[in-house]
Amino acid sequence: MSIDAGEAVEIRVGDLGSQVDWAGLFGGDGPIEIDVGCGRGMYLIDAALARPDACFLGVELVPKPFYKACERVAKRGIANVRLVRADARQLFADVVPPASVSTVHVQFPDPWPKKKHHKRRVVTPEFVASVATALRPGGSLHIATDIADYFDELLLVVEGSGAFRLVTEGRYDAAGEIVTNFAAKYRDQGREMYEAWLTLGDTAADDRAGDAPF
Ligand SMILES: C[S@@+](CC[C@H](N)C(=O)[O-])C[C@H]1O[C@@H](n2cnc3c(N)ncnc32)[C@H](O)[C@@H]1O
Repeated sequence: MSIDAGEAVEIRVGDLGSQVDWAGLFGGDGPIEIDVGCGRGMYLIDAALARPDACFLGVELVPKPFYKACERVAKRGIANVRLVRADARQLFADVVPPASVSTVHVQFPDPWPKKKHHKRRVVTPEFVASVATALRPGGSLHIATDIADYFDELLLVVEGSGAFRLVTEGRYDAAGEIVTNFAAKYRDQGREMYEAWLTLGDTAADDRAGDAPF
């Protein structure tokens, strides 16, 4: 993909328009991967280097990790990454075009364990519905966390949408080279981590399609 490495890494949400023009944003039409709550950008950077034909958008709400990620991407001149400082829930609901995204990663989302803080969680039924709308047919949702109970809750919310089919679930592949900042930290601490990959597709419809017609 030919992308001008000199282009700005940081994109202002106001510059995205009413619906993101992915080809215009990246200067190429590779598959779109969105890293929700990308933090300081370790996964974004390593995944973008490993998959140079894909286009990576990092979405991060908090300024400090966001600007750290921007600095790292700019310093390394990585052409296929853009970053936007935004609430991912709002971004998906407002400006991500339907059926335009290949993969959405939500890795180590803040669990906000207190009930009064649950409204701050990224993964809500509304967010999952927005992600389902944004994904292309056959697109993937990747979730990961180090908290077993929260992993179950995340899966319940995602599967509760009826829009996704579980492909794999299990231990997080921390031995791989492409991991997030939090995964690297937890791996060094010897903590258990969990991940799941889901694909867009109505489970019930898929089951029905698999039924023998007699
Ligand atoms: C626990 S950190 C994980 C960061 C990174 N994914 C990793 O695994 O290293 C969660 C990140 O999500 C960001 N975040 C929380 N709510 C968000 C939202 N609504 N939209 C975008 N980012 C959000 C936080 O600021 C934080 O950087």
